[in-house]
Amino acid sequence: MRLNSCARLSRSRGMCCALGGGLMSTSSTSTTSDVVLFINGDEYPINIDNRTTLLDALREVLGLTGTKKGCDHGQCGACTVLIDGRRVNSCLQFAVALAGGEVVTIEGVGGDGGRLHPVQQAFIDHDGFQCGYCTPGQICSAIGAMAEADRGWPSHVTAEVAAGVESAAGLDAEEVGERMSGNLCRCGAYTGITEAFMTAARSAR
Ligand code: FES
Ligand code: FES
Repeated sequence: MRLNSCARLSRSRGMCCALGGGLMSTSSTSTTSDVVLFINGDEYPINIDNRTTLLDALREVLGLTGTKKGCDHGQCGACTVLIDGRRVNSCLQFAVALAGGEVVTIEGVGGDGGRLHPVQQAFIDHDGFQCGYCTPGQICSAIGAMAEADRGWPSHVTAEVAAGVESAAGLDAEEVGERMSGNLCRCGAYTGITEAFMTAARSAR
């Protein structure tokens, strides 16, 4: 389940468009804010236009260009990152409204010393990409989707919705396709993406 900015804020704050705990200062007339973003374990104190999306803050302000811009309005999944472990379209999330959330981008999913995340390795092993443009979003989304399945969350194609699923390891290709349906691949590498997902889901993560 992907969260957009309004859904996330309404759940965490009880209101839409509240400004978050990472906000340092602003005023009712100011069009910019001082914020501290928490990304891949590092703190980034920056001053940004209040209308800046997390995607643009990552790419244009901080130079973290691993996260890609496709449609820029929540339709393609290329911009997917993890916020507090949940997958989010960063083009729909205002940076000033992060509420202190911990962001993980494709630059931060691996381990120390350049060690690849098991999902990254599986994408390589199964040719889960061609041009690679959608791949950072696919990988972040897959990591988030596996966490959802490990919590037992059902999808639209789960046979027994009330029972949910046991874990990501038991997902079949139909489940993977449904759960990853928010991430488009213009190269059509879906067969490899699905195989990579299923292999990584069955490995120790
Ligand atoms: S760029 Fe965000 S969903 Fe397409
Ligand atoms: S690998 Fe080219 S868009 Fe997915």
